[in-house]
Amino acid sequence: MNLPIKNNRAAWLQGATAKCSVPPPMLDRPWRLVLLGAPGTGKGTQAEFLCDKLGGCHLSTGDIFRAAGAGNCTPSPAMVESLRQMRAGELVGDSTVWEIVRERAGCVRCHGGFVLDGFPRTLAQAIAFQQLLTEEEGLCLDAVLNYELPRDEIISRLSGRRTCRDCKAVFHVVHCPPRSHGVCDRCGGQLFQRDDDRPDAIAVRLDAYDRSTATLLAFYKDLGLLVPISAAGSPAQVFERTVTALEAAITDGLLRTRDPRDAIAGLTSRRGDARSRFEPL
Ligand code: AP5
Repeated sequence: MNLPIKNNRAAWLQGATAKCSVPPPMLDRPWRLVLLGAPGTGKGTQAEFLCDKLGGCHLSTGDIFRAAGAGNCTPSPAMVESLRQMRAGELVGDSTVWEIVRERAGCVRCHGGFVLDGFPRTLAQAIAFQQLLTEEEGLCLDAVLNYELPRDEIISRLSGRRTCRDCKAVFHVVHCPPRSHGVCDRCGGQLFQRDDDRPDAIAVRLDAYDRSTATLLAFYKDLGLLVPISAAGSPAQVFERTVTALEAAITDGLLRTRDPRDAIAGLTSRRGDARSRFEPL
């Protein structure tokens, strides 16, 4: 199967002065989604599916930190401290995260749309982001998808995860193995296990998520944007459920940014593609 040419997301990963390898599509109504959920619920996996089907870029704050950690230039003292916190499984400080996202506001206003993964993660980040979107950029989020999964299943997913060093594609040694051991199906890059997927760091990450999540969920629920989704089952089943949840939210008038007929027709035509692509997992 020919996989689509991926945008290297240079403007997001390296900062505003870098140029993305693929120009964003000019979409009339770009989707702007936020994905919430504990580490390992599959946000990154679903973000890739959503971007493939709805357009837009997968914007992960974790990917920015990992790119900085792998870079050749000397990181700033703030970035060194952020990388230490990340490897231990702790959250990076709000001011550092916000500075990084603020510098990349161009990706937020991009006319291809976005699927944000890993940001916002605290109430302070969510409030700052909402102000940036509405007051400075005049933009609205379409929905905030919250993926839910029991803790034991999360631990099993994280401990088996392997990530491509080059294109950041995500695999799982059991649920989504690469065709060749240790080699990325998409670009041929080398697969590695993340530092923060060690058992001690996983426990710290899950606790940090539990501490910050209640106020974050309440914030987006009050804005009428929160769509809860069970993350149990295969990646294709979770994507199917995501599309169904988006359709239901549109029908119920929750997603005020979308015209119900156009949006549902678009989602329905795309659902079949995802099923055929991901069924074998
Ligand atoms: P980040 O990179 O955002 O990591 P995370 O939130 O911990 O989420 P993960 O990437 O671990 O999990 P995921 O839900 O994306 O799951 P995935 O799709 O990979 O952040 C890393 C760190 O950076 C943080 O700990 C923090 O230090 C820092 N940071 C980042 N943003 C921050 C912020 N805003 N504020 C403060 N600090 C911040 O799937 C997991 C595995 O399961 C994979 O192997 C996958 O193949 C497999 N899988 C996926 N779906 C399924 C399925 N349905 N069935 C079976 N297996 C599946």
